[in-house]
Amino acid sequence: MIYARIVGTGSHLPGEPVTNDDLVRRGVDTSDEWIVNRTGIRTRHFAAPGCKSSELALIAARRAIEAAGCAADDIDLIIVATSTPDFIFPSTATLVQAGLDIGNGCAAFDVQAVCCGFVYALATAEKFIRSGSHRRALVIGTDVFSGFLDWTDRSTCVLFGDGAGAVVLEASEKPGVRASVLHADGSHHPLLWVPGAVAGGQVTGDPFVRMDGQAVFKFAVKVLDEVVREVVDLAGVAQDSIDWLVPHQANIRIIQSWAKRLGLPIEKVITTVNLHGNTSAASIPLALDCAVRDGRIRPGHRVVAEGIGGGFAWGAVLFDF
Ligand code: ACO
Repeated sequence: MIYARIVGTGSHLPGEPVTNDDLVRRGVDTSDEWIVNRTGIRTRHFAAPGCKSSELALIAARRAIEAAGCAADDIDLIIVATSTPDFIFPSTATLVQAGLDIGNGCAAFDVQAVCCGFVYALATAEKFIRSGSHRRALVIGTDVFSGFLDWTDRSTCVLFGDGAGAVVLEASEKPGVRASVLHADGSHHPLLWVPGAVAGGQVTGDPFVRMDGQAVFKFAVKVLDEVVREVVDLAGVAQDSIDWLVPHQANIRIIQSWAKRLGLPIEKVITTVNLHGNTSAASIPLALDCAVRDGRIRPGHRVVAEGIGGGFAWGAVLFDF
């Protein structure tokens, strides 16, 4: 049996932390108290104007490759999860391949599942490796949401930040990923979207993030609870064998609500939303890398990564680290 194991993690946050009070100083009609009470967010990072998702991804990728102890040319598959690609095409994954000077012609493509993108990308890469067709995948979540924020819409602009996270996934006889589940229900797409497009040489529609926050909140709490139970059942392991949950970092109240529904001690949940805000596809690999580097997640630990994003698209991956 071939498993896919995470053998290296890396991440990158651009610039200095931006506090809630900094947002007030920049003219957003909000307060530190409101943001902390409703979301748990205290700081986030924003990329410099013009900085692209691939630039953040490259730094995270180099760190993950270094942690894995392999060479960039040993990578034979690159999957980038992003909903803020550098360009309409080519894929951000091909730009990362070029940036890493990988000249071996390996496959490289993007997946788009918004805040659940990393879970979709990891589950996809695992299937390539388990099939035997590929041996070492670079899986990245990267987003520059700041370019899509309407700074006059205080119900969205305070929530998001920019960043990137990456893992190297390698074929192994030792268990790594044990199960993954992916779901989507596109009928909810107007609850969370950027309803703009480019056509006829112009942006058509609205190029900013729009969201019905309360509807997203209710849906997220319900399905995140269900999807963790589902992946645990599929893996055939006991729920109390899970050492760590690494959820998508959108809002501390969403995380607390489903942890309670699952009967899960909050101490087992990795949270970085207070420091990073919602970095969309980057949030899970960023949180994972933080917990690996600070020594909480150690070799042999059992981890569930789970997320939900626009669409809606949601899912979970259970793996032994
Ligand atoms: N600062 C101050 N006041 C605000 C702000 C703000 N940033 N934003 C909204 N308000 C005000 C509203 O205007 C409203 O005022 P009113 O009562 O005078 O009309 C009041 O606060 C309550 O607004 P609600 O939208 O009802 O606030 P709610 O308690 O629902 O919190 C929030 C909003 C934080 C967005 C919440 O709905 C939420 O967390 N939803 C989840 C959405 C999410 O996390 N999305 C991220 C992307 S999706 C994903 O990643 C899963």
